[in-house]
Amino acid sequence: MKKIALTGIKPTGILHIGNYFGAIKPALALSREYEARYFIADYHALNTVKDPKELSAHIREVAAGWLAAGLDPEQVLFYRQSAIPETFELATMLMAFTSKGLMNRAHAYKAAVQENLEKQEDPDAGVNLGLFTYPVLMAADILLFDSDVVPVGKDQVQHVEMAQDIAQAVNFNYKAEILKVPQAVVQESVAVVPGLDGRKMSKSYGNTIPLFAPEKQLKKLIMRIVTNSQEVAEPKDPETSQIFLLYKLFAGPEEQETLAKRYRAGGLGWGAAKEELFRAANRELGPLRDRFAEISADPAGLEAALARGAERARAIAGTTLRRFRKAAGID
Ligand code: TRP
Repeated sequence: MKKIALTGIKPTGILHIGNYFGAIKPALALSREYEARYFIADYHALNTVKDPKELSAHIREVAAGWLAAGLDPEQVLFYRQSAIPETFELATMLMAFTSKGLMNRAHAYKAAVQENLEKQEDPDAGVNLGLFTYPVLMAADILLFDSDVVPVGKDQVQHVEMAQDIAQAVNFNYKAEILKVPQAVVQESVAVVPGLDGRKMSKSYGNTIPLFAPEKQLKKLIMRIVTNSQEVAEPKDPETSQIFLLYKLFAGPEEQETLAKRYRAGGLGWGAAKEELFRAANRELGPLRDRFAEISADPAGLEAALARGAERARAIAGTTLRRFRKAAGID
């Protein structure tokens, strides 16, 4: 029996190539070894995205984006969190086993409080209960599906540890393994993708390259990557060039070696280096972009795929929930 890998994707912005190499590709690779359950965490996004048009657009874009990037919904259980009411019933049950003090220690909440204190505001200003109880909902997502491993970025490890704590509190109380205790996996080998300004590519820095940017925009953005003032003739160190680091993500080992030699030899200007990057990036992203357009043009087909996923997911969720309710004396 394959082990179960589960992760949630928060639809809070359009996908960029940092998401592609940092989260999507590694998750798809993992789905070949594990029984994968990947879902759109739309109720988590509601904590911050209050504009209905924006939220529904992000949900559809992110779902279509993962499918375009290669997620096969026949192989990976793919669904929307909001389509699984069992999640919210489980979250309510988990609340009874979660100390308030544990939530006080959650990084996201602590950061919000800290920011308020620095501005000399009320510590809880602008903090909604969704943010405060975020880790409980995330624990419900995870524990509902008997997850063995949860692939996440470093910033989410604490949340998975909280899910462990909560599961253990439940199991301890009933002296039985009601909920499976999950492990976080942080893929260390995942490259940090540099953004247009050389810092890590991130929505919050505004330095991203959208994954499905039309060809022209892709080229324009690549041409905008910040470089130093080295002349064309000067030999350049590929390993310290943001352009080369991006190129490496799209090129095979031989291509990387060939271009690295040209960097070191001198005579390769930044403009030409960017052309090479554009060529390699467009070669990989072109077909993705086409698939994305196709999937986006058929919203009913997308909804149907997610609905099929939700139906299968609910069958699993119901089993976990019934087990817990029975143990709790609510059946
Ligand atoms: N909190 C995660 C993030 O911000 C998204 C998420 C929601 C998640 N539920 C999850 C991740 C369950 C893993 C497992 O990226």
